Amino acid sequence: MKVDGKHFRSIWRERDGWSVGAIDQRRLPHEFVVARLTSCEDAAIAIHDMLVRGAPLIGATAAYGMALAMREDASDAGLKRAYETLIVARPTAINLKWALDEMRAALAPVKPPERAEAAYARADEIAEQDVEINRGIAHNGLALIEAIAANKPGEVVNVLTHCNAGWLATVDWGTATAPIYLAHERGIKIHVWVDETRPRNQGASLTAWELGHHGVPHTVIADNTGGHLMQHGMVDLAIVGTDRVAANGDVCNKIGTYLKALAAHDNNVPFYVALPSPTVDFAVSDGIRDIPIEQRSGTEVTDMTGRTADGRLETVRIVPEGSPVANYAFDVTPARLVTGLITERGVLKPDRASLAAAFPERIAAAAE
Ligand code: MRU
Repeated sequence: MKVDGKHFRSIWRERDGWSVGAIDQRRLPHEFVVARLTSCEDAAIAIHDMLVRGAPLIGATAAYGMALAMREDASDAGLKRAYETLIVARPTAINLKWALDEMRAALAPVKPPERAEAAYARADEIAEQDVEINRGIAHNGLALIEAIAANKPGEVVNVLTHCNAGWLATVDWGTATAPIYLAHERGIKIHVWVDETRPRNQGASLTAWELGHHGVPHTVIADNTGGHLMQHGMVDLAIVGTDRVAANGDVCNKIGTYLKALAAHDNNVPFYVALPSPTVDFAVSDGIRDIPIEQRSGTEVTDMTGRTADGRLETVRIVPEGSPVANYAFDVTPARLVTGLITERGVLKPDRASLAAAFPERIAAAAE
């Protein structure tokens, strides 16, 4: 997608052929800074500290982290150490484990002297595959937007989204945003309600930033606004991303998603979840019971960072000193509240049979 007219991906191999460039998402929307990752530890810290974030991008970064590790130590012990360093970087997005398992499976049969080259090749494939998958999601989701547009000729289609499931959360295109970008490209009048997404504000700082740079009309709203908009017919559909989908179709996503799904259900607003197949976790049969929910630092709740009128970046505390805070980063929306899962293989019903029929190879992998 575009930044100031120039095409960018969220992660790439640098010109030197081995180091990895990534947009530092902690600095957006105030500063556009590219970070250079030169070791497996750099990649693990980038994931842990949310320099990169979003389930598919976490997976791609971990894949490059393995490649960086193989450059330094391609032995079996080095492979094991790299896997163990990266797997603990963040707990909820299953794409991290998926990418590391893919890398390990590709590298284990390769002799150590050839492992680094094989690792970069597989990491590049994983990144390319993410872009291709998201293109598929774009086309499958576009049909839903086109159907709504056909029912209100000449009017704007209003989509509500939560958090950032945009190109920044993936390698390119995004998941929830992929159909939006394609609809915009095709000339459909589209407008996006962007939930600010407390506590880290990925909607206000990332989704708004990327939609703005790509010229997609949007409005940032406080997190509590969606229900009101839905009651007044101002949302045609909601599309969100996900960090993990259980085998039964339960959807884990950024905290607050569940409340939007409840509001959508109460107002007959279609509630879609866009996901690439690596986000399905067939090893988890019940999402509410079994998906681990990351709890993050309380400072994300107590503090806010922004630009002052004279251009400085400042962090201020908004909670009384001494008040305890809790910071659950994700919640799980039960499958019964989800209208459909927009995947690269079509729009699926959120249930076990539909997921299993669409992604049989993932079931086999989960059983290993
Ligand atoms: O904590 P984050 O920013 O890594 O959260 C993950 C997300 O970006 C969202 O939950 C997103 O909606 C799903 S990932 C495409």
